[in-house]
Amino acid sequence: MHKRRVAILISGRGSNMAALIEAAKAKDFPAQIVLVASNIAGAGGLAIAAANGIETLTVESKPFGADREAFERAMHRELEARNIELICLAGFLRLLTPWFVTQWEGRMLNIHPALLPSYRGLHTHERALADGVKIHGATVHFVVTEVDSGPIVIQGAVAVRPGDTAQTLADRVLQVEHRIYPAALRLVASGHITSGRGAVAADTDDVFISPRLD
Ligand code: GRF
Repeated sequence: MHKRRVAILISGRGSNMAALIEAAKAKDFPAQIVLVASNIAGAGGLAIAAANGIETLTVESKPFGADREAFERAMHRELEARNIELICLAGFLRLLTPWFVTQWEGRMLNIHPALLPSYRGLHTHERALADGVKIHGATVHFVVTEVDSGPIVIQGAVAVRPGDTAQTLADRVLQVEHRIYPAALRLVASGHITSGRGAVAADTDDVFISPRLD
């Protein structure tokens, strides 16, 4: 089996990155994590990746200032040099230009802490709580030029509990993120892409009602 060569792009603690690295240790996993790259020097995830024997790289975005594309060209060169086939954005806090997105169209995934297309952008948990939604969650999707859009690969939902704060909700959503991102990468890397209508059924009950009906 050819394991697809994956780079994970991070800016911070890298807990989703760590989940991907763990999953990719399985013999039958169709992808290998060959590079973890950060745009922020000293990002927490870099040490975790290095401890797992994965090559790490920092291409700081700051020195490039407003010239996003110049930063991206530098990053792109590094990815090409390693024959990267797929990119997973995992807490990569940098808006990407159409140039970069086009280079990686159909080959770049992102995880977003909300059930898209609801709550694109920042502060998703605060906004979900403010709206009083009863079901919230996370989405893995292909990256397109429009932010937090693009074909959805997989979603995971949690019930919003009475008394939830943005933090408690974020913690539960994060647990879901750590399950769905490896699953999404498995689907995409193996060619079993299940984005799109009617392509997949939920893994348990197809209905999720919150609050629970007793
Ligand atoms: C996650 O909540 C992810 O959904 C969002 O940024 C956060 C990154 O967390 N895109 P981590 O660095 O993976 O721990």
